Amino acid sequence: MTFKKFIIGGCLIGASFFVACQEQAKDNTNETAAVKQEATEPSESEEKVLDVNEPSELALLMRSMYDKNLALKEQIKNGEIPESFPEDWLSIHSAESAEQLNETFDGLAKEYIKNMEAITKASTKEEGIQAYNNMISTCASCHTIYCQGPLAKIKKMKIKDFESKS
Ligand code: HEC
Repeated sequence: MTFKKFIIGGCLIGASFFVACQEQAKDNTNETAAVKQEATEPSESEEKVLDVNEPSELALLMRSMYDKNLALKEQIKNGEIPESFPEDWLSIHSAESAEQLNETFDGLAKEYIKNMEAITKASTKEEGIQAYNNMISTCASCHTIYCQGPLAKIKKMKIKDFESKS
């Protein structure tokens, strides 16, 4: 059996659909989507007034992570270990979000990047699968705190037959 090294990316699945956070967790007390931060807060950024139809930077990044990790799942199952992952994923720390993020988010984001990198260090298919599942667990951990809408879909991303091992 040979392990092909490859770069993740480039192979976007076009027609995936998205589950937005709001589906389940509508924890913004204010129903009005565009809560104009009247005089209450200094208008640090105008973009805070979010259009519901306009996904945030972070949401777009997440969609790309979702798509590409599904492609990665298939590759991992074939024993193909990626050599790297898209660099823009590092922007998870800085991308603008519709949610209020804090240190908890940062910690989990770091863990996510670390787990992603661990996949590239796997040397067997089994290690690859374990590392992949660990990485998906980090998606899930963060999504139990923030943005619970996609959680069910995220859990389905795991490679099932190997789950018992961890
Ligand atoms: C460190 C926390 C964190 C991690 C790790 C994380 N997410 Fe997210 N995710 C978020 C937050 C916060 C949002 C909401 C972004 C927004 O709307 O501004 C989000 C949004 C999403 C969305 C909805 C995007 C939309 O269309 O509105 C999907 C799908 C998603 N994430 C999938 C994933 C997947 C798949 C992974 C792992 C590969 C992952 N997430 C890892 C925090 C995280």
